[in-house]
Order: sequence, then structure tokens, then C-alpha cells
Amino acid sequence: MIIAVDGPAASGKGTLAKKIASHLGLPHLDTGLLYRAAARALMEHGHELGDKDAAVRAARSLSLCGLDENELRGNEMAEAASIVGAIPEVRAALSDLQRAFACRPGGAVLDGRDIGTVICPEACPKIFVTASAEVRARRRTLELRARGEEADYAAVLAEIRNRDARDQNRSAAPLRPAKDAIVLDTTELDIAGAFNAALAIIARYQSGSPPRAAPPAAPSRLDPLLRS
Ligand code: CDP
Repeated sequence: MIIAVDGPAASGKGTLAKKIASHLGLPHLDTGLLYRAAARALMEHGHELGDKDAAVRAARSLSLCGLDENELRGNEMAEAASIVGAIPEVRAALSDLQRAFACRPGGAVLDGRDIGTVICPEACPKIFVTASAEVRARRRTLELRARGEEADYAAVLAEIRNRDARDQNRSAAPLRPAKDAIVLDTTELDIAGAFNAALAIIARYQSGSPPRAAPPAAPSRLDPLLRS
């Protein structure tokens, strides 16, 4: 079983994917770490984030076991990852690693932006996690402060909107729900509520009666993702 968990910044997709994987005994890959690690390697070597050749070299040199989540978290790296992730050749260079992880015997849970649309179109189920930009900014502000970083809510909200726009409008693998994804709006849900909702979705797939995917034009359900 390959489970794709996609969604915008601070939607809770990482926490949710981790909990689903642990509940089902499946390995989990946070694909954002790959983009963050590529960005970090560029910065360490003094390259511009838009330097395509250096970015592709950095992406090709990555391996899954060298990813240190603690070093790669943080706002600066998220912004840098979003710039590097807009380079189509970088995405191509990182796709084999992600596919190989997804195709492990027994399955896997991957979270990111394009798991359901590009990396694993065969994934089932595909859950697209979203929440209002304001709620996501509140969550991210608290998360950054808990990590000891300074975080101003208004600045975090502006960054999230900026990153949403970049992730949605890039030419390569733009952020959007796959046609057969189930949209899970966590604006009003806490972690336990989102987890229970995701388990219910997975159970429906396992029992052979999957819930209906959101129709493609349902902007209110993605609010404010597709309207921003
Ligand atoms: O937790 P958050 O969503 O803020 O960060 P992340 O998932 O680590 O992603 C950081 C950035 O990496 C995103 O804004 C995307 O631009 C990029 N990314 C991507 O393009 N494709 C992925 N599969 C994962 C991340």
C-alpha cells in the first residue's frame, strides 16, 4: 500500500503522515527534507539557489540516510527548498530516490507536494491535507517558537502565502490535489481529529468502498489554497 499525503506548508501533512506510517507499520519519507537538503548543500558551497547545474549536482549527491531532520527544519531552509524545488531538473534528479522508497515491498507513506500527482500516481489512497493560511501560520509560528526560533505571526503568514503561490504556480509539478485525492481540511481539526479522519479514509479504501474524491472545481473545500 502506497499512501500519498500532499499539501501546502504547515497543513499538518508531515505529522499526519508520520502517525499513519507508525499506525500501519509502514516506512515514512518526508520528501520536503530532500529539497531542504539540496538547498542546504548549495548554500554551504556558496552557490546561488537558482544555480541550476549546482542544484542538480547537489540533488544527485543526496541519499536518504544522510538526511538530518533537526538540521534541515526551520523557516530559512523551507524558503530555500521552495526556490530549489521550482527547478524542474532538480525535481527529476530527486524522483528516483522517492520512487524507490515508495516501491518497497509492503508499501510506504510519503508526504510532500507532488506525491499523488507525479511521484506515485498509483498511490492509493491519496490524501491532500489543507487548512486556511491563517491557521497554518498560527501552527508554524508556535512550531518555530518551540524550536527556539523567533517567529512573528504576520511575517510567517506572509511567508506561507508567498510559498503557496510559488509552489502552486511553478511549471514543474505544481502543488495541487490529484484528481483522485481526498481533500482533508484540517482548519478546524486538531492532530487527533486529523488522524482519525485520515484513518477513516484509509479504512474506506481497505474495505473497497473509497470515499468520493472532491470534484476538481471545488475551491471552497481547498480554501484558501486555490483562492490565494
Ligand atoms: O513543512 P513544510 O510544508 O513547510 O515544508 P516541506 O514539506 O519540507 O517543504 C519545503 C518546500 O520544499 C516546499 O515549499 C516546496 O517548495 C518544496 N517541496 C517540493 O517542492 N516537493 C516536495 N515533494 C516536498 C517539498
